[in-house]
Amino acid sequence: MSIHHFRTWVIIVFLVSATLLKLSLSDPDSHLLRKKVLMREKVRRMFYHAYDNYMKYAFPHDELKPLTKTFTDSLSELGNLRLEHLPKNYNGSALTLIESLSSLLILGNNTEFERAVSWLSENLTFDVDARVNLFECNIRALGGLVSAHMLATDSRNRFIQGTYKNELLTIAEDLGQRFLPAFNTPTGLPYAWINLKYGVMDNETTETSTSGSGSLILEMGALSRLTGDPQYEAAALRALRKLWSLRSPLNLLGTTLDVMTGNWIEYSSGIGAVFSQSLRSLREGGVLEDVSVCICCCPKIFQTWSMVLVGDVAAANSSHREFFKVWERFGVLPERYLLDHQMLHPTEKYYPLRPELAESTFYLYQATKDPWYLEVGEFITDSLNLHTKVKGGFASVRDVSTMVLEDHQHSFFLSETCKYLYLLYDDSFLLNQNYIFTTEGHPLPVLAAWHDRLPEVYTTANYTFIQSINKPRRASAMSLQLCPAMTVNSCRQTNEKIESVCHIADARSDHRCLADEDCGVDATTCRRRSCSIASFCGLWLFV
Ligand SMILES: *[C@@H]1O[C@H](CO)[C@@H](O)[C@H](O)[C@H]1NC(C)=O
Ligand SMILES: *[C@@H]1O[C@H](CO)[C@@H](O)[C@H](O)[C@H]1NC(C)=O
Ligand SMILES: *[C@@H]1O[C@H](CO)[C@@H](O)[C@H](O)[C@H]1NC(C)=O
Ligand SMILES: *[C@@H]1O[C@H](CO)[C@@H](O)[C@H](O)[C@H]1NC(C)=O
Ligand SMILES: *[C@@H]1O[C@H](CO)[C@@H](O)[C@H](O)[C@H]1NC(C)=O
Ligand SMILES: *[C@@H]1O[C@H](CO)[C@@H](O)[C@H](O)[C@H]1NC(C)=O
Repeated sequence: MSIHHFRTWVIIVFLVSATLLKLSLSDPDSHLLRKKVLMREKVRRMFYHAYDNYMKYAFPHDELKPLTKTFTDSLSELGNLRLEHLPKNYNGSALTLIESLSSLLILGNNTEFERAVSWLSENLTFDVDARVNLFECNIRALGGLVSAHMLATDSRNRFIQGTYKNELLTIAEDLGQRFLPAFNTPTGLPYAWINLKYGVMDNETTETSTSGSGSLILEMGALSRLTGDPQYEAAALRALRKLWSLRSPLNLLGTTLDVMTGNWIEYSSGIGAVFSQSLRSLREGGVLEDVSVCICCCPKIFQTWSMVLVGDVAAANSSHREFFKVWERFGVLPERYLLDHQMLHPTEKYYPLRPELAESTFYLYQATKDPWYLEVGEFITDSLNLHTKVKGGFASVRDVSTMVLEDHQHSFFLSETCKYLYLLYDDSFLLNQNYIFTTEGHPLPVLAAWHDRLPEVYTTANYTFIQSINKPRRASAMSLQLCPAMTVNSCRQTNEKIESVCHIADARSDHRCLADEDCGVDATTCRRRSCSIASFCGLWLFV
């Protein structure tokens, strides 16, 4: 079907369905039900095609190479762009199987789940001489294990009880123990890399990323609550608090920093994690852009789901539409797309089977129940089957303009992409319980018993708010490229179109104010405006 027809059809279906829904809310539209049943089968087949091929050609190694039907032991390659310190004697940790556990339960395949648990409990060991990225290992391995454990022991859902004896929790705890040496730094910010057998290596890099130090709390917190051992949560929370204390006056975080000193190394601000404060600072016309502390250069694909989660459904809807248009144009989403110029980024033209558009579609459907999103999900599913399905699994796309494939099926295709598409058409899993989905798509039940107050030691009073960003001791190549001298002025001299990302409008359009909070941020200098004695917002130099 051509895109044109698709669009027209979508609009018609939308109008018809909306009318029907309006007419009889209690009587579910049978067209929608039929669609859901058909689609969940289609997505189920997709998951098993990926899973069965992994089990056949790659397991117990980490990930499948679907074109050559072989494997890669990628756990120590993740995040390791230069492929340094690769282990010589590491045969994988069944990563894709671990990542598939929660999906198997959501698909209701208890038999296969139990088979996987017994293999893992008998054969998996993390006592291996492998240097892994703490962030990746946490979201994929620890998150996969903790989530599957919680689902398997949840008495409120349909999963088989009795045969499961907390095996996954035992494995998770062993892995969590191996993470702890990474946090042994003066700042509490963890090293980005850890050797699973020997801890932090000699001469290990002290540069870590915002996500690597700030987003360990869900998995490690859950591990503490489940085992009763507070160490994991305490370590992750301390790192998170420390990181938040290092934010700029605009509530922005840089990208990388030094774990020994807490100084920022890379100033450009990505938006990996959900901080509603930062979101507010960055919103611009419904589409968020990758920004540096000074100016934005390249628009970057942003996870619309976080806008749904902070409650801005309208903004999420319009930015989702923009991304879906790009998907429609190419058949999948390129890693980067220059929205201003409506063109591909010259190098980042790949699509590694990422979940974000499916994920956003799922969240938007949950938030609005607008049946249009079911059509979007179908379009995504059909494109994945058309462009990325091969005999040996699903392959990443190396270049979306040619659809040349890459020999790699990432584990998140099973933990996220397939799961979100499935949940779009069958949300029965979500009926009896609220869940938080981790960044890797592993659901964690939201438990009332876990809403305890944080221990006193973690209160913000113990952390200083850094008023201005310190001068960097060293700057990465990327920072220099974005912002040659790391100052606002030098950035302003470039001839880029400067619609400053730091700009925040004053609360009132007539610029009147009662307090500084009513004032925004100046677009050209990126400085916070304040309320004058005469009750006007402005850039008063001496306040
Ligand atoms: C990895 O596999 C090789 C070849 O099968 C074997 O010799 C080696 O002992 C294995 N290493 C580990 C850590 O199991
Ligand atoms: C569970 O998964 C296994 C392995 O893919 C498959 O053979 C089996 O048919 C699945 N069972 C169900 C109920 O889907
Ligand atoms: C553990 O691995 C061995 C060797 O591959 C295999 O024979 C055994 O069945 C595995 N255990 C389980 C419970 O699958
Ligand atoms: C650590 O780096 C220093 C300086 O480069 C070097 O002299 C030393 O041998 C290194 N140590 C290890 C264990 O690699
Ligand atoms: C999303 O935006 C479109 C217009 O772009 C609008 O027609 C539709 O009603 C919106 N849906 C929701 C749920 O906000
Ligand atoms: C700060 O932490 C110390 C222990 O590290 C604790 O004794 C103190 O009460 C904390 N202060 C606040 C305000 O929480």
